Amino acid sequence: MPRRPDRLVRCWDRQADRYDSRTARLERRFIVASRHWICSRVQGTTLEVAVGTGANLPHYPADVELTGVDWSEAMLDVARRRAEQLRRPARLLRADAGALPFPDASFDTVVSTFALCCVPDVRAALVEALRVLRPDGRLLLADHVASSCPPVRAVQHLIDLVTVPLQGEHYARRPRLTLEALGASVVESERAVLGAVEHLHARRPD
Ligand SMILES: C[S@@+](CC[C@H](N)C(=O)[O-])C[C@H]1O[C@@H](n2cnc3c(N)ncnc32)[C@H](O)[C@@H]1O
Repeated sequence: MPRRPDRLVRCWDRQADRYDSRTARLERRFIVASRHWICSRVQGTTLEVAVGTGANLPHYPADVELTGVDWSEAMLDVARRRAEQLRRPARLLRADAGALPFPDASFDTVVSTFALCCVPDVRAALVEALRVLRPDGRLLLADHVASSCPPVRAVQHLIDLVTVPLQGEHYARRPRLTLEALGASVVESERAVLGAVEHLHARRPD
């Protein structure tokens, strides 16, 4: 049984201050390439959903008008400090990915990286991401997903048995399938890291 959302938020709050140091090695080895893939495709007014400690902030083009949301105030505080250090203006607000506080069609680009693996309801988060995206906008996603390599996928399903009840972290999800079921079209996609990381550029349904 996944943990209740308020317990998940507390879990993120508790680890906020040490999150960047704990993930630094993974970040350099496996994740930074995904940030380049995503941020090089961003344009215009941009929303980052579940922005965390703001690890994408150094990678966004300077002319992007950025809003980031996360449901953990402590993670947002780290992101705010990072934005200040980088002198990168960004509106950073507390919000749930499943109930975004923005009108329909308000962003040119919506980004989410390494977060759909841990939102309690992927479908609700994607419905909201598509709702706030302009009709010709870009939805850009990167996440660790069920690998295209069967032995790796089998291990991921085993890991999920522990990490899902413990901290709501899923290793064997496939957001792409949910996105396609919602009628969105995938414009570009790429797999990396033994097929366990997927990058997607998608558009709203017509
Ligand atoms: C693994 S961190 C990734 C953060 C960041 N996107 C990155 O690429 O480094 C996941 C983040 O998702 C946030 N999160 C999880 N579920 C959420 C939800 N339903 N609404 C908003 N934020 C959520 C957590 O608070 C955490 O900051």
